[in-house]
Amino acid sequence: MKISLLLKLIILILFAVFIPIFAINFLNLNSPISYIIGALSAFIATLVLFLILKPLGKFVQAAKSLGEGNLNYKLDIRSQDELQSVADAFNLMAGKLAISFQKLETEKDALASERNRIDSVLSAIVDGIIALDFNKNIVFVNKAAESITGYTQNELNSKSIDQFVRLYSGQEEILSKTYCDISFNQTVTLVGRDGKQTRINLTTSKIDSGVQTNLGCLLLLRDLSKEEELERMKLDFVSMASHELRTPLTGIIGYLSVFINENRGKIASEELDLLEKSQVSAQQLLALVQNILNVNKIERDQLAVSPEPIDYQTVLTKSVDDLGNLAKQKNISLTLNFPKDALPKVLADPIRINEVVTNLIANAINYTNPGGKVDISFKITPLEITTVVSDTGIGIPKEAIPHLFNKFFRVSNTSQQASKGTGLGLYIAKSIISKLGGKIWVESEEGSGSKFYFTLPAASQMKPFVSDKFVGQEIQHGALNY
Ligand SMILES: Nc1ncnc2c1ncn2[C@@H]1O[C@H](COP(=O)(O)OP(=O)(O)OP(=O)(O)O)[C@@H](O)[C@H]1O
Ligand SMILES: [Mg+2]
Repeated sequence: MKISLLLKLIILILFAVFIPIFAINFLNLNSPISYIIGALSAFIATLVLFLILKPLGKFVQAAKSLGEGNLNYKLDIRSQDELQSVADAFNLMAGKLAISFQKLETEKDALASERNRIDSVLSAIVDGIIALDFNKNIVFVNKAAESITGYTQNELNSKSIDQFVRLYSGQEEILSKTYCDISFNQTVTLVGRDGKQTRINLTTSKIDSGVQTNLGCLLLLRDLSKEEELERMKLDFVSMASHELRTPLTGIIGYLSVFINENRGKIASEELDLLEKSQVSAQQLLALVQNILNVNKIERDQLAVSPEPIDYQTVLTKSVDDLGNLAKQKNISLTLNFPKDALPKVLADPIRINEVVTNLIANAINYTNPGGKVDISFKITPLEITTVVSDTGIGIPKEAIPHLFNKFFRVSNTSQQASKGTGLGLYIAKSIISKLGGKIWVESEEGSGSKFYFTLPAASQMKPFVSDKFVGQEIQHGALNY
């Protein structure tokens, strides 16, 4: 039977207040009936009070248990009144809370395992990763970044990156405001704990979607020290091997030359031919070794050039003289068109400039068919002298021209590949000319010959010279013909 709480309260008030008042006022206090009525109403009032208070105690117990996190606590109240309805609602609420809590726990576990996975991936990456917030303070550092900087994640956490990780591009220090606000990719020196320097490749990216996560910038640090060490070892080895090869090769060429000269006419012409071919092969090998040594020096930034005012005309005459035989053998007319007045002095290194000129003229002869022409002419201005080596040879395909001055580049068509070469001559020539403060470039069309140009600074200021009249004329005053 359902008795409402209000009814219980009314019964309580009736038996605790009104019936005793009635008994005191209307009955004889000493009569047994009034005792019986008094005792009965006290008993009923106590019983009703007990019925009201008992569930309230259970409520207190349930609230305490819920507070302690026991969401499965069930409130067992069968008072058949509103308190039972409240208890049912309480149980429903606790049940729903338990489900939500369970869901939250599952999501928390999923998030934690996701985070562990990301942490493991980031830790396993061999490159250093540093994440910064919008104020350029460090929020994350992976293991590789810890080892590059020498600091732990705890030491770096929330600290300004510029305070701990100093980065230098050459002598200049670069700060986070420079590399974080743009896409940055550069080889720099990182100075970490105790001034330890590490060469790194730094790539940064701005995180545009980082507002919610408070991430502003990501730094990727690639340690280059091992690569640079290997590169240094490779260059050392190549340098040492080339030097060691050069000495015996020079000896072989010298001995062959002496032997050929002393025995010319004494030995059979077939044997002489074989000896001369051996000498040419040894010379080619020596030229290759010399080229490799030069490339090695360029890469170490040790290619010594000593510019001085030189008599360019004499240097050129000697270089062209040395190649006269090669041109003759191929039946190529080699023309050196000096201007009417002597060529002005240039600021250059005679040995290096001989290497450049020799390679350009040798190329022109090698890549021109017999019967063709190779012509060397000049354009003179007060500031610089431009040398033009033109040929009527096979020319260079348009798509090859941008790569022509790269290391080991050779045009891949069959007529070019037929000639021997390492693809280093133009790379070396470009390095030498730029070290001397000049420029080198080419104009060419496949099948229509090539023109290689290079400039050298004039040794002194001079009057402007109208030079065009010398270009393209085969025999000029003072021209040398081969
Ligand atoms: N005058 C030219 N005419 C046509 N092609 C040329 C000419 N000069 C250079 N080339 C092309 O450019 C390539 C690179 O020339 P480069 O002088 O660097 O190397 P190489 O002559 O092949 O070898 P080496 O290192 O012995 O000089 C050549 O292989 C050739 O394909
Ligand atoms: Mg060459």
